[in-house]
Amino acid sequence: MTSAIVVGGPQSNGIDAKVAELLGVECVRVEYKRFPDGEGYVRLPVSVAGKRVIIVQSMFPEQDMRFVELLLMIDAVREHGASEVIAVVPYIAYARQDRVFREGEPISIRAVLRAIEAAGADRIIVVNIHKEHCLQHLTKAKGVNLDATPLLAEYFKGKLENPLVLGPDAGALKQAKVAAEVLGAEYDHLEKFRDRVTGEITIKPKRLPVEGRDVLIVDDIISTGGTLAKAIKAVKEQGARSVYVGVIHGLFVGKAYEVLAEAAPNEVVTTDTVLNKFSKISVAPLIANALKELTKV
Ligand code: R5P
Repeated sequence: MTSAIVVGGPQSNGIDAKVAELLGVECVRVEYKRFPDGEGYVRLPVSVAGKRVIIVQSMFPEQDMRFVELLLMIDAVREHGASEVIAVVPYIAYARQDRVFREGEPISIRAVLRAIEAAGADRIIVVNIHKEHCLQHLTKAKGVNLDATPLLAEYFKGKLENPLVLGPDAGALKQAKVAAEVLGAEYDHLEKFRDRVTGEITIKPKRLPVEGRDVLIVDDIISTGGTLAKAIKAVKEQGARSVYVGVIHGLFVGKAYEVLAEAAPNEVVTTDTVLNKFSKISVAPLIANALKELTKV
């Protein structure tokens, strides 16, 4: 990819350098700062004129500032003559508000995606966006959703005995199926209910064939840890031999580490779309392969 360059944002998690290395292209980091009033600022350290620019910026922590920085980076590379702009957003925030749940709410992810597109991105690459259909909100830019679930499952290959893969709710069933296929295992899901006003989670009783087995629970996001803690508890109560957790985006908000530790899973693994103490798997190879495929080089 000779005329391409990777431009890493303030929250690129090292994925920028890894992707650049895998593609054999230059990688630079934007200069950035906050003004005394809190506004963000970015500046390109090199010329990008005539180049295909791959911007890497994840959107957590501080999703609002990371979002603004992403828009500023796209604007800067457009302003300075990039021939094509690919925004790689390993974790895209606001995707859980993908519809109006209560009267008066916005479709937040639509607003976010359309702003990225309006800033000048030709393509937007995300990893395990909460709901894939969200990318249909894009009107001009091409959206690509990559699934890092096989990477999580590979990590557990050979470690689990008679495994059962579970999603903590019906929404995670597809992910459980993907992981189960990699592991040659069975899969199912628990029944979760979240109160939209209080945020309180309840796992409804559901008998599962977990007795004496190793269970792998997969999900797209750990935020407060409540969902997974309750799911772990439920399968332990039903006699699981051990419980492992594989999650794509580990936000670990507030007391999430403590909440999860209390549920005592055997091991927790996440990717590096958001950095946390369990980020053992990099999504860089997945992104680099997708870029190779998309740009046909
Ligand atoms: C929700 O549908 C997501 O897939 C996750 O299950 C949820 O965001 C996890 O949130 P928390 O860790 O706060 O329970």
